[in-house]
Amino acid sequence: MVCFSAMDSFVLVIFGITSNLAQIKLIPALYDMEEKGRLPTDMTIIGIARKEMSDEDLKSYVHSVLHLENIHHKHEIKEQVFKKLCKRLKYLSGQIQDQKLYGKLKKNLKHDNRIYYLATYPELYHQVFENLQKSGLSKQSKGWVRLMIEKPIGHDLPSAKALNKLLLKYFTEDQIFRLDHYLGKETLQNILTFRFANDIFEPLINKDSIDHIQITASEDFGIGRRGGYYDQVGALKDVGQNHQLQMLAFTTMNAPNKFSNEAVTKERLKILQNLKPLPQSIVYGQYEGYQEEENVAENSTTDTFYALKTYINNDRFKDVPIYIRAGKNLKQTVTEISIVFKNPLNRLLGTLDCGDEPNVLIYRIQPNEGIVLKILTKVLGHEIKLQPEYMQYCYRIDPHTHYIPDPYERLLVDTIRGDQTFFNDAEEVEAQWAFIDPLIAKRGKPAIYRKGSWGPKEADKLLEKDGRCWLEPSMEFCRI
Ligand code: BG6
Repeated sequence: MVCFSAMDSFVLVIFGITSNLAQIKLIPALYDMEEKGRLPTDMTIIGIARKEMSDEDLKSYVHSVLHLENIHHKHEIKEQVFKKLCKRLKYLSGQIQDQKLYGKLKKNLKHDNRIYYLATYPELYHQVFENLQKSGLSKQSKGWVRLMIEKPIGHDLPSAKALNKLLLKYFTEDQIFRLDHYLGKETLQNILTFRFANDIFEPLINKDSIDHIQITASEDFGIGRRGGYYDQVGALKDVGQNHQLQMLAFTTMNAPNKFSNEAVTKERLKILQNLKPLPQSIVYGQYEGYQEEENVAENSTTDTFYALKTYINNDRFKDVPIYIRAGKNLKQTVTEISIVFKNPLNRLLGTLDCGDEPNVLIYRIQPNEGIVLKILTKVLGHEIKLQPEYMQYCYRIDPHTHYIPDPYERLLVDTIRGDQTFFNDAEEVEAQWAFIDPLIAKRGKPAIYRKGSWGPKEADKLLEKDGRCWLEPSMEFCRI
């Protein structure tokens, strides 16, 4: 249980309280934190947006948001918890560009410890920083001041560098919390525990034992109403540049020499900086009907799918291919990392069908969350017949003890504690773009794929050329 003392009293200022992000993620996460007693007694939330509203209007808005259908937040809303949360709420209307707003904000800030959460367009960041500084609101004199910002941090390497430079003009690195919600996922963080607290697997995680690694993030739904944003970025920038590269970093990084922010980040960074972009080994796809989606350009060539191959330029993973794919409107919603072990005998004998590799270590990020080892066992009986089975560790076995906190809740708690271990630093973000930029430069016309498929056939060919194939994610394990 995380406990806060009176020392931890603070104010959370949310720029863009009516944004989609605040509705879907932040407000539900704050509700959950309230319910679990993870908000200190003396903590205020100031919501800012353009609309003229009173504090009472904000409370009704928060109430309605909590009752919206939300795939990320499905549990019951308790009125007494909502009322407790309401006591913290305060609303300020104004234009982010307008200095007057910051004067109003200053008058309403009763706490020396402050978190500014920018749930707003990146184009506006500069003005927020500038205005905060001019009003003396970014200074850390009596307490701490922290800034939370979401991806995208830039749209390529030069713009990411420019934003990082801008951030450092107003804040110090230890004040900047660059949030990639995948880093807040329990199922991702647990990869580190699994690897470094259990010595038995770690000696196998290298080029001698591993044939290849696959990372899949597929969704069985389209872009919904996010066309305006999505059409500008596409799949590779939306989830590849950030979430999927971090999944790879967690899977392949060396053990940090201690569990500190600096040590963990340093090891993740080493992987990201050593990834080889292979522009000739990437396939882009777009689902049928994408161009008819709301706010999508008529002849859009934006990728809603990609599949790529890469290598890590270090001795441990020398020549181990890594295949990464992600997309919308695919066959299944599933995110997983599969470490496929070598099986020289089966390969030699030709007894192995592609995709039937007997030993695969699977980190299932979602759904059916778990860590699973695929092994071969004997079918009961007099014959020697083999069958694949799963040795499994599953989350949610007991809802009381295996509860999975939402990543936003986890990352808010970390920000309050000032712990940046599961946030990106400037160098990481830049390393991610340095890998992505040469691949984006090769983005041409995407291959069209059927909704409900596994993407274009070109993605299969990427592996077939190497004598491999994509593993069909199994729903047979951790069905809880
Ligand atoms: C977001 C992307 O960052 O991550 C979305 O913008 C994507 O397009 C989402 O759907 C996936 O997150 P999760 O937690 O649902 O896997």
